[in-house]
Amino acid sequence: MSCLIVVGTQWGDEGKGKIVDLLTERADIVARFQGGNNAGHTLVVNEEKTILHLVPSGILHKDKLCVIGSGVVIDPEILLEEIEVLREKGYSVSPDTLAISERAHIIMPYHKIIDHARDTGRIGTTGRGIGPAYEDKVRRTGIRVIDIINKDLFKKRLDIIFEEKQSYITQILKVKGIDKDSIYERYVQMGSELRPFVADTSIAIDKAIKENKNILFEGAQGAHLDIDYGTYPFVTSSNTISGGACVGIGIGPTRIDNVIGICKAYTTRVGGGPLPTELNDEIGERLRAFGGEYGATTGRPRRCGWLDLVALRHSIRLSSIAYIAITKLDVLSGLKTLKIATAYRSEVNVIRDMPAEIEIYPNLQPVYDELPGWDESISSIRSYDDLPNNCKTYISYMEEQLGVNAAIISVGPKRDQTIIIKNPFDIPDRAS
Ligand code: IMP
Repeated sequence: MSCLIVVGTQWGDEGKGKIVDLLTERADIVARFQGGNNAGHTLVVNEEKTILHLVPSGILHKDKLCVIGSGVVIDPEILLEEIEVLREKGYSVSPDTLAISERAHIIMPYHKIIDHARDTGRIGTTGRGIGPAYEDKVRRTGIRVIDIINKDLFKKRLDIIFEEKQSYITQILKVKGIDKDSIYERYVQMGSELRPFVADTSIAIDKAIKENKNILFEGAQGAHLDIDYGTYPFVTSSNTISGGACVGIGIGPTRIDNVIGICKAYTTRVGGGPLPTELNDEIGERLRAFGGEYGATTGRPRRCGWLDLVALRHSIRLSSIAYIAITKLDVLSGLKTLKIATAYRSEVNVIRDMPAEIEIYPNLQPVYDELPGWDESISSIRSYDDLPNNCKTYISYMEEQLGVNAAIISVGPKRDQTIIIKNPFDIPDRAS
């Protein structure tokens, strides 16, 4: 039995989807614990591309239970759409393969309106209503899955909060109001469609742990978008680090055996906020073009830069990462020299840890080490030994500097374009 958490170590979009998809072969359950349809996984299976925003990618495998935990915020329109698309493509979506936490919060139409009207580009949210839904959860004015599957309870909850939402939208944000009755009807309808999947997912996970099953907890976004430890306020509204898995699923930390951090071989970010190694030059453009660096959710071009060890050390500590998976290493092929930031220099000193003070970042200059690049394409290489020497040096440099070993190296978007050094499900847990 193994409980494995997979988290992003940068600003999201590290390629978690592909690694989770690979690890799912050995998992019995795949569970999402935070975020919502701000995330997006692009999966390529048998040349067919599937983009999932809410349903765990484990659904593309046979006989796995996919869980959407209580820490996730759910837009039922999107979830039902994904279920339909998956069924059309021939995947089995039933209560045996998908369980939704009754405690997860629902993204309501007013959350999306508020997100759009309020984010005028500073944070650059995905506009999916994620932040406003989490705000309501903490404010204790949220609507949960359990509410929309009980129409009387839902009516009471909506009656309590509606007027305030309406006046905030029309009088403060000065945008068009919404119609309570049609929202009520629509959400009751969607609630009844989702009802078969609704469960106390914490009980399901606990039972699976006791039955010695392999469980994979799939994080969304990345450590530097964490609400507490990211580059606040340029963050998402949930805990993206490994600790978030326990809260968002409803199990204790002693149940977790290992944490795998996904590191893209360079750095990207979408939306506003600090990105110390950002490249606003032809190398940045090359990374974007070769890496297909456009958001899976919004299509926005991602900001690109060199690998940042300051950011990675921070994430490895915050999530107690045992092994890393290095993704998109193939995108670096053909670059003469590869730069890696080891620290930041301010006007007064050298900084080795991520500063909490956001105002400092524009004045920081990365301190770079340089390694030689490699010319060859590596996307058809399947064994570590066959990688070009300079590529191996880049990997071992990352391992030494970060104090963790690479378990997986991804050299292309397809399932088989992967070098597995050690399957994380075979790594002994901390207790053994
Ligand atoms: P929100 O999560 O939509 O509230 O957006 C907050 C910030 O997190 C914005 O900068 C988004 O671009 C960023 N963000 C949210 N989800 C993702 C993701 O899956 N990948 C990368 N960035 C994300």
